[in-house]
Amino acid sequence: MRRAIFLTLLLLPIISFSQGLITNTINRNTTTLNGTWHYIIDPYETGYYNYRYEPYDEQVKNDNRAFYNNYHTDDKLELVEYDFDKSPTLLIPGDWNSQSESLLYYEGTIWYKKSFDYQISNPSNRLFLYFGAVNYKAEVYLNGHKLGTHIGGFTAFNYDISSIVKPKNNYLVVKVDNKRSKEAVPTINTDWWNYGGITRDVKLIEEPQSFIQDYSIQLKKGNNSIISGFVKINNVSKKEKVTISIPELNINKTIEISTNNDIEFEVKAKNIQYWSPESPKLYAVYIKTDYQTLEDQIGFRTIEVKGPKILLNGNPVFLKGISIHEENPMRAARAFNEADALVLLNWAKELGCNYVRLAHYPHNEHMVRLADQLGMMVWEEIPVYWTIDFKNENTLNNAKNQLTEAITRDKNRACIIIWSMANETPPSDARNKFLIDLVNHTKTFDNTRLISAALETHNKDGVQMVDDKMGEYLDIVAFNQYIGWYGGSLKNAPNAKWDIKYNKPVVISEFGGGALQGLHGTIAERWTEEYQEYLYQQNLKMIDKIPNISGMSPWILADFKSPKRLLPIIQDGWNRKGLISNNGIKKKAFYTLQEYYNNKKYE
Ligand code: GCU
Repeated sequence: MRRAIFLTLLLLPIISFSQGLITNTINRNTTTLNGTWHYIIDPYETGYYNYRYEPYDEQVKNDNRAFYNNYHTDDKLELVEYDFDKSPTLLIPGDWNSQSESLLYYEGTIWYKKSFDYQISNPSNRLFLYFGAVNYKAEVYLNGHKLGTHIGGFTAFNYDISSIVKPKNNYLVVKVDNKRSKEAVPTINTDWWNYGGITRDVKLIEEPQSFIQDYSIQLKKGNNSIISGFVKINNVSKKEKVTISIPELNINKTIEISTNNDIEFEVKAKNIQYWSPESPKLYAVYIKTDYQTLEDQIGFRTIEVKGPKILLNGNPVFLKGISIHEENPMRAARAFNEADALVLLNWAKELGCNYVRLAHYPHNEHMVRLADQLGMMVWEEIPVYWTIDFKNENTLNNAKNQLTEAITRDKNRACIIIWSMANETPPSDARNKFLIDLVNHTKTFDNTRLISAALETHNKDGVQMVDDKMGEYLDIVAFNQYIGWYGGSLKNAPNAKWDIKYNKPVVISEFGGGALQGLHGTIAERWTEEYQEYLYQQNLKMIDKIPNISGMSPWILADFKSPKRLLPIIQDGWNRKGLISNNGIKKKAFYTLQEYYNNKKYE
């Protein structure tokens, strides 16, 4: 009997619940699973491994000790050593660190459980489970079935649960592990808080049998009057007609689809009002099949480089930017909703910005959709940060997967002009090969945007050198420089000599210095607002003289939490390079940069 079961189990096809990423979930038929979820802190992963440290979900026989079984018994004799329903709760979306004092520094496994009922509205429909992001490794189970494992804390993923979901008493269990490791992306060392948990929206998405899974609708590369792209239908059963319509542009383009592959299209467009910071025009776009109509709000603009200039819609543009972490400083927590995005982007607007660098990982979709609406150009980056394990093939595939998921989610956002491959990675052959792979990978997904990375400089005989080999492969030469903070004299900064090897647009992706808001003194006293203000004044004078300068994103909009910043009274776990304090109070340097941007002329 046991042998028979074993054989049948072996023969059972490995059902893959993971599906390609479903995009534009904001405009789909969804049901939220946000709210309170029970959780169990499990540093020893007792709910995952048996005492021989073998994963329960790899055992042939199901074991109720595995937490994903959410096992309960009325048998007073039976031994059960966990109970989600008697366990505390956390709010989802949200990191666990800011929700409980005891979890502030916690890195490891936490199990989450959410029970829900769901009646599929039409028996032929399908149901998907979608996560906006889970940091870092998520193992997802529904009603005891393993749906899959997702790695990477800042990109979305989804599973088809049509065959498992029940009308009543579903139990969704997620094992989340945010332990850092050398081969991970990001690696073991970062200057930001390793917020763990289910940090973004969780939703159920109900779709017809065949449905519009993904599409790209943007201006064709180097062309401002042809809209091109593709539509991907999931589970095409017969020849389908799909119509892309943009009423305001009198566009109604019908294409035939008979396979699950991306079906490409092109259509001529007249009188397009191009998206720009001054007029962030978004068009209502409809993708129609016999079963559904999906709406999106899409802007059309061209972005390219010409010699040392960045051209937006054919005109030179200067990127008046600021760097931002995905954190609401006042809540000392991961930002995740529209309200958080509004706080951060309105501050950037107030600063006079037309551009933001979303550091160092893809931020939530609310952020990029709001940037689209507000007319804020965006640099989006994956967390290939500092000393990644460049020789490790798995690490490369992990980074590529994060790129794929980020580009897939955001490729229809006009505001995104730059994909960034990395930040402050140490030049080496292995590193160059790794980053070049990422550049080529990006181009296979999107050849319409610019590619860059935050490089580093070095000083040679008093000259600031920018000669990183990667400059050859990037459209924009961007680098971080901290004259006046990590070295160099502020007094001489305006006369600093720069030698930049490439005749390409130059963007200063970071500069800055720390100040404790409210601490005042002289320009020669670190941590005072006066020092930070002077640092900005001197750096801006220097930057104005840098050849081919086309933009900047000073470090950083607001103070942010970092486990690496430990100076008592001044830092206390905060990186103080913000222009705004963690209480939302503007420092003197905020006005220095604001004035600079408001007076910035550029042609
Ligand atoms: C680095 C890095 C940031 C860091 C900053 C700092 O350049 O890219 O992530 O926070 O400098 O030192 O404050």
